Amino acid sequence: MTETVVDVHLTAADAAQSLRADVRAGLTASPKWLSPKYFYDARGSRLFEDITRLPEYYPTRAEREVLAERAVEIAVTTGARRLVELGSGSSEKTRLLLTALTSAGTLREFVPLDVSASALREAAASVVADYPGLTVHGVVGDFTQHLGLLPPSDSRLVAFLGGTVGNLIPEEREKFLRSVRDVLGTGEWLLLGTDLVKAPDVLVRAYDDARGVTAEFNRNVLLVLNRELDGNFDVDDFAHVARWNAEQEWIEMRLRARRPVRARLGALDLDVEFAEGEELRTEVSAKFRRDRVESELRAAGFELHRWWTDSRQRFAVSLARAAG
Ligand code: SAH
Ligand code: TRP
Repeated sequence: MTETVVDVHLTAADAAQSLRADVRAGLTASPKWLSPKYFYDARGSRLFEDITRLPEYYPTRAEREVLAERAVEIAVTTGARRLVELGSGSSEKTRLLLTALTSAGTLREFVPLDVSASALREAAASVVADYPGLTVHGVVGDFTQHLGLLPPSDSRLVAFLGGTVGNLIPEEREKFLRSVRDVLGTGEWLLLGTDLVKAPDVLVRAYDDARGVTAEFNRNVLLVLNRELDGNFDVDDFAHVARWNAEQEWIEMRLRARRPVRARLGALDLDVEFAEGEELRTEVSAKFRRDRVESELRAAGFELHRWWTDSRQRFAVSLARAAG
């Protein structure tokens, strides 16, 4: 039986330190904000998987449709020996790529990278079981910081799916795309999933579902703070808000104080106050048009090779090549 290797580049101590610094910066700022990478503890990763199955949350199904249709073409075009997946989560849709690349006979290794150690270990173990002969080398890390620590290689395809690139704000996105280009050699490949601009009511429903799963997911970040930073937030004090920002073309997720709130984060020796109605920004999810994806890729040193959308033009998958 093939072994799964999981490298931990983000130790619990590193993670705790960046959490402390980020939370202090965000909760003492005006307006208040939190970084979205802290949603994904074990419970948050499970809630995200529930989101992907909601009737309102179309991106996962739309992206899967594209991958199912194009996986063979992606395998033939790239001939990749190694598939690196950033923000891999459950790697569920990625199996379409793994199957096509192993059938094409080129793939030797799968390298999923995620901040969520629990999601990563589960996904790595299940891929190892289902793809005999494939080496799975998981990396627990932060894709905004640890790309330089990926095992060196050539003939790689880097997949960044789920529209997660839209969770970075434009400056972070620019820096991130450049750092991906920097670790690749000329001719290696990036497969990028991006959700597309569409009617605001469709977008808002995808981030504010009728069953309230997204609201639970959003409020989960407060439970992470309570546990990790000795906090005493009462999640019922906060309402989930999803709003379309037409100027930036992104969905903003916020938590709005239903009443005046005073909470304490013991590990930071920090008291945090919210006025009634005050909002904390927890995430943005940018929506794209082809022009923007193409120009951001070009600026980072990638050349767009193929652009595919699902049959209803809701979601795009771009295949780009690291330019010389
Ligand atoms: N790729 C999967 C999961 C998307 S959810 C899909 O398409 O369904 C976003 C994933 O990115 C989560 O698994 C989360 O843990 C991970 N993530 C978020 N921020 C990250 C960061 N800075 N570094 C590494 N992984 C991150
Ligand atoms: N990458 C996902 C997206 O932007 C993450 C996500 C989906 C999310 N639903 C959410 C993040 C709700 C915060 C809140 O679609």
